[in-house]
Amino acid sequence: MSGGVYGGDEVGALVFDVGSYSVRAGYAGEDSPKAEIPTHVGVIEDLEAAMETEDKEIKQADKKYYIDTTMLKVPRKGMEISSFLKDGMIDNWEIFEKVMDYTYSKNIKSEANMHPVMMSEPAWNSRGKRERLTEIMFETYNVPAFFLCKNAVLSAFANGRSTGLVLDSGSTHTTAVPVYDGYVIGQAIVKSPLAGDFISLECKKLMEELEIDVIPPYMIQSKEAVPQMESPKWKKKDIPEVTKSFENYMVKDVLQDFAASALQVMDTPYEDSTAETMPAALYEFPNGYNQEFGAEKFKLAEGLFDPSVMKDLPSGNTMLSAGHVVTTSVGMCDIDIRPSLYSSVIVVGGNSLIAGFTERLNRDLGTKTPPSMRLKIISATGTAERRFSSWIGGSILASLGSFQQMWISKQEYEEGGRSCVERKCP
Ligand SMILES: Nc1ncnc2c1ncn2[C@@H]1O[C@H](COP(=O)(O)OP(=O)(O)OP(=O)(O)O)[C@@H](O)[C@H]1O
Ligand SMILES: [Mg+2]
Repeated sequence: MSGGVYGGDEVGALVFDVGSYSVRAGYAGEDSPKAEIPTHVGVIEDLEAAMETEDKEIKQADKKYYIDTTMLKVPRKGMEISSFLKDGMIDNWEIFEKVMDYTYSKNIKSEANMHPVMMSEPAWNSRGKRERLTEIMFETYNVPAFFLCKNAVLSAFANGRSTGLVLDSGSTHTTAVPVYDGYVIGQAIVKSPLAGDFISLECKKLMEELEIDVIPPYMIQSKEAVPQMESPKWKKKDIPEVTKSFENYMVKDVLQDFAASALQVMDTPYEDSTAETMPAALYEFPNGYNQEFGAEKFKLAEGLFDPSVMKDLPSGNTMLSAGHVVTTSVGMCDIDIRPSLYSSVIVVGGNSLIAGFTERLNRDLGTKTPPSMRLKIISATGTAERRFSSWIGGSILASLGSFQQMWISKQEYEEGGRSCVERKCP
């Protein structure tokens, strides 16, 4: 066969970790990513220009993209917010390439053809999408070498394990992925939609119930300090008419901040009597309105561990709590390896940072597993380590000397075509 092993690590490899909330990018060997860019981008279609032509290529050229926080969070007439991911997988390749172009020029500030690329993917990525991505990286970006690795495997590596059950609670889903000797056990992946976006939605419903108007910062010209629970005093900015998708995105941004600073999971299943004795959380909204959240701050987070308390449970729901996601996944694995999974339950993802998450998980798993089973939860304490775990794992892996023979080299790609990713990156 080919002698096309990638021979050089003379220029640093790049690591891209693609999530539904953000893309993390930076150099392998470093402790944390150079940049974190939202996966959502603003798009304005220039309808007038597009009407004049039937040519699809030109039509596309008439779209304007607004990438990264400072460009994205500005109110603009007709700007829609879209994501290039769907179910954790790349779905809109045009936007994906725009975000990659942006990252290379603004964050990495180097030529794509100089650096091998390590990229993360969800454990359930489809064959077609993996091959298309491989093709784009070699053909469009002309990378010298490429590797695609399951994000759960990278998260396990970041936590110093090659075997463990990775529980990842991100924005769109909470998943349990068993990793054994560095490989994903594909038939035992369990997913639940109870994650960050679900929490934001529950927060939104609560604010509606309490008749609290969530006003995002872009609408606010000025505000005054007001006492607790009094009507806010603020002046509206003169802004262009924005789309519903923009408004929703910006409101969600406020609710995400609310969730991160106010919510807490109780150690034991939620009960009004206990929640009422716990300290409340004071939260100030961007327009100055502020209020204490007592029992609500626990109730909202409880849905992650007990879906039956959700505000309006979708009918026929099959949503699994965080504990159930873990036990179901382990239960689908060979009985011989279950102890090694339970003894390394690796907790990652931004949504797992909600106060009390790992403690409650520990308690719930304790009640669901036999007493003889050794249970150990592994979770980084730092926010960055938890949120960027798969990026950090990629950074470690791509800089290991023993990994260098694993890359798909450009020569291998040229000889074997896009399907070489199936063989090299199982
Ligand atoms: N400190 C925090 N406390 C609570 N939630 C947080 C915190 N920081 C981030 N989040 C939430 O975590 C989610 C993002 O998590 P993460 O960055 O792991 O997602 P992702 O990997 O981009 O998405 P996914 O895994 O769903 O594809 C968002 O919903 C965000 O609001
Ligand atoms: Mg993720």
